[in-house]
Amino acid sequence: MSSNNKLIIFDTTLRDGEQSPGASMTKEEKVRIAKALEKMKVDVIEAGFPIASQGDFEGVQMVARSITDSIVCGLARALDKDIDRVGEALKEAKAGRIHTFIATSPIHMQHKLRMQPDQVIEQAVAAVKRSRRYTDDVEFSAEDAGRSELDFLCRIIEAVIDAGATTINIPDTVGYNLPNQFGELIKQLIERVPNIDKAIISVHCHNDLGMASANSLAAVLNGARQVECTINGLGERAGNASLEEVVMAVKTRCDLFSCETGLDTTQILSCSRLVSGITGFPIQPNKAIVGANAFAHESGIHQDGVLKRRETYEIMRAQDVGWSDNRMVMGKHSGRNAFRARLKELGSEFETEEELNAAFRRFKDLADKKHEIFDEDLQALVTDAGAIFENERIKLVALKVCSETGERPKASVTITLDGEEKSASSVGGGPVDAAFKAIDSLVQSGTELQLYSVNNITSGTDAQGEVTVRLEKAGRIVNGQGADTDIVIASVKAYINACNKMLEPVTDKHHPQADV
Ligand code: KIV
Ligand code: ZN
Repeated sequence: MSSNNKLIIFDTTLRDGEQSPGASMTKEEKVRIAKALEKMKVDVIEAGFPIASQGDFEGVQMVARSITDSIVCGLARALDKDIDRVGEALKEAKAGRIHTFIATSPIHMQHKLRMQPDQVIEQAVAAVKRSRRYTDDVEFSAEDAGRSELDFLCRIIEAVIDAGATTINIPDTVGYNLPNQFGELIKQLIERVPNIDKAIISVHCHNDLGMASANSLAAVLNGARQVECTINGLGERAGNASLEEVVMAVKTRCDLFSCETGLDTTQILSCSRLVSGITGFPIQPNKAIVGANAFAHESGIHQDGVLKRRETYEIMRAQDVGWSDNRMVMGKHSGRNAFRARLKELGSEFETEEELNAAFRRFKDLADKKHEIFDEDLQALVTDAGAIFENERIKLVALKVCSETGERPKASVTITLDGEEKSASSVGGGPVDAAFKAIDSLVQSGTELQLYSVNNITSGTDAQGEVTVRLEKAGRIVNGQGADTDIVIASVKAYINACNKMLEPVTDKHHPQADV
């Protein structure tokens, strides 16, 4: 692929994605996702914003140490202290990129930065030069480019390319643009910035009007050669352009795009599930590419057409994004090696034999309750919160619920809190409500339940339920997840998982776009 035919995929799930309220990830979770992205052959992985907190710094550092085949990138405002922190975090990266940004729209310059346009250019140039002390791979973003004045954008881009920026990112930070307008912006920049051929043009679109993928694709049609996106479209507010949509649109409509990504698209589904499992953000059934209904045909007419010839109603092959035809993969008699091999195919690998053994035990328990185990079950099993976070402070020991017609449901719960066993009972509107109340009387979480949702992982009444619980306390939001064939147990696992997250100490975390 010549460099002009290559569309660089820059994934920012671990940075912009993590900025979604409640989507925060531990360092270990970031490394798991980064490895899945690397396996999918993503070109650049934006691992975080190292100045935000010590945890963010260490997350970027751990990803930099673990990844060899993708470029690892860290975000920095156009400030020396931010850039030096990224430089430090990326020290051990095989290939590292510094991504520095400053806002360029009149509204941001005037009200957020309180700077004159010439000062903004000066600071951007200084930031790029400082970044070049650490690496030759420097990306500059003109934050809120989608609402910036074209003449000013051209000036600042020319200046930062002269200063050594090798990628110029044009974000539609607030998701305001429409595809024809955003495509035109890219076209104008290519025509008007004299040294634009010395850099790759990138785009970074937000989804506030549901246009993020469409805007990114319009930009590609007009010459952009990097798209910044996230798995499942995770990201600030309504999210970012979704990686799976952009990548599959370019692949499926290769008649229109004169470029290709180098991605192994068969990894898309497992990556999507991994991110959903870790963040606790469920995938809506009708989500393009990765939703449970994305390749399902309900109406008789469609089914008939697909059976006669697939292309009548399907524009992509489900297998190309990782859906398998034979979804019943394992059962009670499947062995450890088959279990490990299937999970490896699904993108999950175990670091140690103990981890494998613990997951295999959970698989056997599940197989006792459910005789057909599907890929989705296996994935839920490895991301099941209660299983991953072995050092959680609250652990479920026992749960008993009683639901009877004409009686208020009652739940009795036993947990350990920091190793000490405690029990409580409560009544509630339903068994889940009663169980949550009983737990809360023990942990005194002081949280507000913002969201409770149950999804069946596969079909059938013996399917596992996957529960997401979102809790809020003093403006902090966390998500918890749990899976089980018993949905009351799944709910309790999810609630305990969220309470554990709430108990984790919060270090003061800076938001990249909040201040300067
Ligand atoms: O949306 C945005 O403008 C960003 C920048 C930091 C690239 O996320
Ligand atoms: Zn963004």
